[in-house]
Parts: sequence; C-alpha cells; structure tokens
Amino acid sequence: MFDFNYFTPTKVVFGKNTENKVADLIKEFGGKKVLIHYGGGSVVRSGLLQRVTDILDKAGIKHIELGGAVPNPHLGLVYEGIELCKKENIDFLLAVGGGSAIDSAKAIGYGVTNDGDVWDFYDYKRKANACLPLGVILTIAATGSEMSDSSVITKEEGLVKRGYSSDFCRPRFAIMNPELTMTLPDYQTACGCTDIMMHTMERYFTSGGNMEITDSLAEGLLRTVKENALILASDPKNYNARAEVMWAGSLAHNGLTGCGNDGGDWMTHKLEHELGGLYDVAHGAGLAALWGSWARYVYKNCLPRFKKYAINVMGVSPDAGSDEKIALKGIEATENFYREIKMPTNLRELGVNATDEDLKLMAHKCAVGVNGGKGSARFLKEEDMLEIYKMSR
Ligand code: NZQ
Ligand code: ZN
Repeated sequence: MFDFNYFTPTKVVFGKNTENKVADLIKEFGGKKVLIHYGGGSVVRSGLLQRVTDILDKAGIKHIELGGAVPNPHLGLVYEGIELCKKENIDFLLAVGGGSAIDSAKAIGYGVTNDGDVWDFYDYKRKANACLPLGVILTIAATGSEMSDSSVITKEEGLVKRGYSSDFCRPRFAIMNPELTMTLPDYQTACGCTDIMMHTMERYFTSGGNMEITDSLAEGLLRTVKENALILASDPKNYNARAEVMWAGSLAHNGLTGCGNDGGDWMTHKLEHELGGLYDVAHGAGLAALWGSWARYVYKNCLPRFKKYAINVMGVSPDAGSDEKIALKGIEATENFYREIKMPTNLRELGVNATDEDLKLMAHKCAVGVNGGKGSARFLKEEDMLEIYKMSR
C-alpha cells in the first residue's frame, strides 16, 4: 500500500431542483460577477440557462455568458474567455454542462489568474499558481470533472489534446440534479457510463500498492454503473438509475478509487486522447473502442487483477479455468457489455478508418505526451502503443 493524500474540497448539492440553489452557493463562495460558460446549446434548448440567469438576476448577482465549448474543447475559446473575464472583471466561473464546458472553464480560470500563455500548463512547460473559483451545474454524468483536479483541452493547431491537473481547479461546488441528464441522447448516456467505469478501471488495473477497501469500493462502483447503464439503455427516464450513475461519476474521478495504489495505469485514456484530438470522437466511445485491445495486450502482466475483476465485477465463475482463461472471459464480458449499451469495441465500429500512417502518428504523439512511456498494468512504449492501435482497427 502506498501513502496518499485525499483532497476533495467540492461541496456537492445533489437531487431534484438543486439548480435553484445556485445563487446562494455562488454567494457562499464569494462570487460577485460571474461568467456562465456552457457548450453547444443543449442548456439553451432545455431552458436551463434561462432559469439560471433568472435566478442570478433575482439574487442581484451580475453575470455574462459565453457558450460554444465543443466536445474535446478548444484552446481558441479558452483564450476568448480569458480576455472576456479580464475585460469584465469576472471573479467567479459557473460551468453549466458536461466535461467540455467544465474543462474549458477551468482553463479560462487558469488563464485569468496566471501570466503568460495558458497552453504552457497543458504542454507541461510550467505549473499554475492559481485558478479562478469555479462552480458547476452538471448536465451529463461522465468525466467527473465536477470534482476532479483535471481539465483536458485541444489545441486546434496540430490537433493536440492534453490534460493538466492541479488542485487549484477543483470546483467549489457541484450541483447535481439527475433529472437534468434526462434530455441526453442515449449514445451520450452510454458514453458517460463507459467513461465512469474507465476512470475506476484505470485505477484498478495497477501493478502496485492495492488496498482491499479501495478494491471493494471500485468493484461496487463498477457493478453499480454496469447494472444502471443497462437499465438506462431501455428506460432512459429512470430517475434512480440516473442518480446512481451521476454520483458514481463523481466518485470515480475524485480520487477515492485510487487511494493507496500507485496512481493508476491511464494508458487507455492517453491512447483515447489522441483519437479524440485527431478524429473528434466522443471520449467514452473512444475508450470503449480501445479498451479490449489494451486489455488483451497487457493482461498477462497484471493477471491477478484481471482475474479479480473478471470474478468480482463481471461475474465470471472462479471455476471457469486457468487464471488466464478467467481473465480473458472478463475482458470478453466487458466487450459484450459495451455492445449491449451500443458502444463500439473497435475503431471501425467507432467510425474511424485509420491508415497505417494515422496510427503511427497517434502512437508517436501519445508517446511524446507521456514522455516516452507510461502504464502500470504494463509499461508501454511507442511501439506498444502502435500495436494496440493496430489491434483495435
Ligand atoms: O455542448 P452541448 O450542446 O451542451 O451538448 C453536449 C455534447 O454534445 C451534450 N449534452 C450534455 N448534457 C446534455 C447534452 N445534451 C442533451 N442534454 C443534456 N443534459 O452531450 C455532448 C457531450 O458533452 P461533453 O461535455 O463534451 O461530454 P463529457 O462530459 O463526456 O466531456 C467530454 C470531455 O471531457 C474530457 C474528455 O476528454 C472530453 O474532452 N475529460 C475530462 C476529464 C476531467 N476533466 O476530469 C476526465 C475525462 O477522462 C475526460 O478526458
Ligand atoms: Zn475519461
């Protein structure tokens, strides 16, 4: 077991109509003039944005709006947001939406409070010293960005997608009303469930320092999301299933399921970020398309964990054969689950027709992004990354 710090400063306000508390929460955390940041317009169409601005007006909280954060959010809009915040003396950010709006807001928050080019942080050139305080009204359960320390931004030039993590950007509050996720297309709901499970699996498939309590929490979370993702596939308006998945999304990425281990593997995420940068695919779908190939490539190096996962999460019988056989059955069962919720299990099903050159480019960019190599279940170098991309075609 490794030593660990566990820091989750976000105040969670969970349940029906909780968005009505947004003005009180902004006041509680000292916001006087707010930038409301959102995505491509789902919050306009649902009427949520109007309700939020009405509530702020009533409470006498000044605000301006900036929409347009796209999935795999762009650096260009971040620059625009930084300028706007400086010009308007914004002291609080409110992200209304999913991971893309939240991450874009986090990057804006870094840019306003630190001198120089905000991309430097995502390019690992230097570290941020601060971030504007941020609150969230979540509309999709997926990334866990509402409690996480990370944000992921894509630089349009060269299509480079990079994440940056620091405690400064952890949201002050997260309003989570499961009803707000009921307008999601089924595909996005399934992408979200996949991402939530992957955040837990990245921390589970490690070669070092595991704790029984952490494993139990992780396995319970994975079983819960799997069961409720299947419920939502046929009954998307099921409030309890929405609620289970939403809370799981936050717990999957606020650090809880990583306590005591070596920090996790994270290579499926790194490989996906190159896909997302180059082909603009939905993050969760990209993860599903890659995971099986990654798992088959690494499982022998992390066999006890793959066996444990197969039995405790995927329900494979401990008498199903050798350890390797059990592990492989667990991988198969995971892919079958993805199929049941209509997620892709390879690049073709994802709609990506990658050439050899594309795969080489992604493997190279991925290797550069991780300083040559990364992975805990198995340490991967550029040639391994290329092999996994090839297997996933
Ligand atoms: O943009 P709008 O119009 O709002 O539409 C969005 C978008 O098209 C739509 N949507 C969201 N809530 C909705 C809704 N449509 C109808 N009703 C609602 N209630 O869903 C689509 C996806 O939204 P987005 O915010 O892009 O999804 P997600 O939350 O999955 O975020 C994905 C981004 O987060 C990054 C991903 O790489 C990707 O760029 N990640 C961020 C992490 C973090 N900060 O901790 C960790 C993750 O591993 C991930 O890398
Ligand atoms: Zn993710």
